[in-house]
Amino acid sequence: MKILMTFRTIAVIHIGVMFISLSTIALAEDKLDIGKMEYETACAVCHGLTGQGDDGFLKELLAKPMPNLTVLAKNNKGVFPFDRVYQIIDGRQEVKAHGTRRMPIWGNTFNNQSSVYFKNYPPHDSESAARSRILALTEYIYRLQE
Ligand code: HEC
Repeated sequence: MKILMTFRTIAVIHIGVMFISLSTIALAEDKLDIGKMEYETACAVCHGLTGQGDDGFLKELLAKPMPNLTVLAKNNKGVFPFDRVYQIIDGRQEVKAHGTRRMPIWGNTFNNQSSVYFKNYPPHDSESAARSRILALTEYIYRLQE
């Protein structure tokens, strides 16, 4: 009887610990969505929190309507144009012939910021830090697809 009680107690504690760790993981995942964090910091001001372009805070100040970032795959025969989106965010490789660009060039911004953030942690590679931020953003926009 005593042994049975002990087993029950152990089982209850075990399940309790499992729940706590699961909720911690869920919380951590919530906090560690780097793409979402970057998007909300750098992009939502123009593109809106949903990416649909009609709910950006700067909407009134922008001369033309914003593109809808949730239909990029739909408008490309169901395939998310990963490389194009990456290049558009980066902006450094964009060919001049594509016309004037209203969107900021994030490749430079992220590279400069990494140089500042990591200047006390040598040796650092500000380019790979910039690329991982652009990759996280591209992956987040992929997740915004309808
Ligand atoms: C100052 C406003 C502004 C900010 C901030 C901004 N964008 Fe843009 N974005 C635009 C505009 C305007 C366009 C339309 C193309 C153009 O005129 O350059 C665009 C186009 C795009 C496109 C191409 C859409 C298509 O239809 O092909 C993507 C992808 C994109 N932005 C992603 C982002 C991401 C990711 C961020 C944040 C890192 C961001 N944008 C920040 C203004 C902005």
